[in-house]
Amino acid sequence: MKILVTGTAGFIGFHLARRLLERGDEVIGVDNVNNYYDTRLKEARLEGLRDFQGFTEVRQDIADREAMAALFRLHQPQRVAHMAAQAGVRYSIENPNAYVDSNLVGFMNILEGCRHNRVEHLVYASSSSVYGANETMPFSVQDNVDHPVSLYAASKKANELMAHTYSHLYQLPTTGLRFFTVYGPWGRPDMAPFIFTRKILAGEPIDVFNFGHHKRDFTYIDDIVEGVVRTLDHVAQPNPHWSGLHPDAASSKGPYRLYNIGSNNPAELSRFIEIIEEKTGKTAEKNYLPMQPGDVPATYADVDSLIADVGYKPETSLEEGLGRFVDWYRAFYGV
Ligand SMILES: NC(=O)c1ccc[n+]([C@@H]2O[C@H](COP(=O)([O-])OP(=O)(O)OC[C@H]3O[C@@H](n4cnc5c(N)ncnc54)[C@H](O)[C@@H]3O)[C@@H](O)[C@H]2O)c1
Repeated sequence: MKILVTGTAGFIGFHLARRLLERGDEVIGVDNVNNYYDTRLKEARLEGLRDFQGFTEVRQDIADREAMAALFRLHQPQRVAHMAAQAGVRYSIENPNAYVDSNLVGFMNILEGCRHNRVEHLVYASSSSVYGANETMPFSVQDNVDHPVSLYAASKKANELMAHTYSHLYQLPTTGLRFFTVYGPWGRPDMAPFIFTRKILAGEPIDVFNFGHHKRDFTYIDDIVEGVVRTLDHVAQPNPHWSGLHPDAASSKGPYRLYNIGSNNPAELSRFIEIIEEKTGKTAEKNYLPMQPGDVPATYADVDSLIADVGYKPETSLEEGLGRFVDWYRAFYGV
């Protein structure tokens, strides 16, 4: 298949593209390699994809309407896996406009490209952050998600709403995946696993927000990629039982689906730090702090519908996954 993957210089997009190329798909990879974090890491990921014959690299901004229309016209992808976005909850407090450009304008350009070029299936990255102020655990796709606590979360919820209108109006099959804290080799330098590992290895103190009581449904990258590939292969269908009288939140009369994708096994931040200490063989100096604006105290994914529909099964324990992350980090940075 010919698949457009956006965000291929990014953590998840890179792993996903590599997996699709390994199984023989053709991948058109789009990324603007912006400097939200170290571009050397992004370039190194891309370098790893260039070895594959089926990889076509396109360096452009998804918010550029004309360029995106031209890209779809030229390449005519059969399916689209949209991973590019301005990620990060805390940065959305500092630079909200970046989220409007990449996550709203960029998403719109993806939808238009899919619509005008009869793409068979659009799978896009949403986020556990849409659950915002919700406290009922585990988070279910049936929950009301009208109370985001960051603009990042609001932009992801907006993507789900925008996708629904395109599924409804143009019968564009769309599937949104709400990712829950993804970690693993080639991970993101702005996220806790990376920051903690870097600082612990360098002997620097770490900031532990919410006094270490945060709970996160940490999900290993290979489990995420397996779920995304299975979802991409499982084209969203209209739900014939959908009723406007009792609306199911995760499907529709149109070909629209929404799933959580997490490990379904949350861990406390303090346990997470303990494992990094074990894997690095060093003890962290901890600077305990209160919760940050935009943060939520806990996430926990109900993944039953993804199990039922595509046979998703997260397999990697936190101990195993963090071990692989620390090994990768030490090899990549030579520390
Ligand atoms: N990693 C997680 O834990 C997590 C959790 C929930 C949701 N997500 C979502 O999953 C997706 C992938 O996340 P990630 O962790 O790989 O992040 P990432 O920042 O590593 O990757 C995103 C990539 O998109 C690119 N990009 C951003 N704006 C762009 C633009 N306007 N034009 C072209 N390229 C652009 C960036 O350069 C980057 O390489 C994102 O949509 C993110 O919001 C990630």
